[in-house]
Amino acid sequence: MGQALAALRRGDVIGLPTETVYGLAADASRPEAVRRIFELKGRPADHPLIVHVANARQLERWARDIPEAARVLAAAFWPGPLTLILRKQPGVPDEVTGGQPTVGLRCPAHPMALALLHEFDGGLAAPSANRFGHVSPTSAAHVRDEFGDAVPVVLDGGDCEVGIESTILDLSGATPRILRPGRITRAQIEAHVGPVAEGGDADSPRASGTLDAHYAPRTAMLLLPRDALVAEARQQEALGKRVAVLAMEPLPDGLRGIALPAGADGYAHGLYAALRSLDAMGANVLLAERPPSTRDWLAVNDRLRRSAAGAGLGRDDA
Ligand code: TXA
Ligand code: MG
Repeated sequence: MGQALAALRRGDVIGLPTETVYGLAADASRPEAVRRIFELKGRPADHPLIVHVANARQLERWARDIPEAARVLAAAFWPGPLTLILRKQPGVPDEVTGGQPTVGLRCPAHPMALALLHEFDGGLAAPSANRFGHVSPTSAAHVRDEFGDAVPVVLDGGDCEVGIESTILDLSGATPRILRPGRITRAQIEAHVGPVAEGGDADSPRASGTLDAHYAPRTAMLLLPRDALVAEARQQEALGKRVAVLAMEPLPDGLRGIALPAGADGYAHGLYAALRSLDAMGANVLLAERPPSTRDWLAVNDRLRRSAAGAGLGRDDA
């Protein structure tokens, strides 16, 4: 913890555990520290970052014209996996906001992240600690795999409980709008603040987590219902292809791969680690069983769809 604090005060970037995924964190008030995050990730500089704060009292420090809904939601869900997009204070560096007039704020529910934020007494700009477009990390080992010696300080806070990124809610416009689904659902938000819209519109701020081809493994990936998946696997194997399967428990007989729990929260918890392991199997194709299309699976289905859209772009033999 002392090492992490010293690194942040020097303007260095560290690996930070949160309850959703690991972040690549730096002092949000120092443009050159934030620029280093973009260099490490290989992310376009106009993509805004989330500022992580110790508690809801920090809202004023980063945002202005704060609507009542923001205070109500922060009181209800912070610390927790909900990011609020608000109009920014003039002093928030353009490096953090991608030059937009808004800033994303979130108080993470991880004891190590909270302890660090309290000690640091500032905001930590932190995107997920993966290279741009790649699968988000849910363990300290994943962060080390992504960045090695380029990020020498990675706080090890164990496996992330939630496993997929926070829900992003834009409160900077006339109607609240969910830009990225996550563990905190639309129904949970609406129970506190009334109707919210879903999905970006033409005026919505950019969110890189909303691009297709995100969260992607290197192996080519197909999403299929279970019966079709089994048939496809047999067909591919008959052609001499190596197939890796991401199923919902249990794993279909005779196929190689990983089976995740059949409940959405348990599935989300294991999803990114599973995608990394499956990628490492060196298969020609990754076949993923399509989960139900009910509301409780919305965030998982969103990530799976984007993973499949971007998969295989990094490998030419697949
Ligand atoms: O769970 C999470 O949110 C994790 C952990 C580390 O907190 N962070 C995360 O960061 O997923 P990142 O950068 O990978 O995704 C954050 C998303 C991006 O899609 C970014 O564009 C969006 O938040 N975002 C940040 N500030 C924004 C703003 N002012 N307007 C619109 N979108 C914003
Ligand atoms: Mg990300």
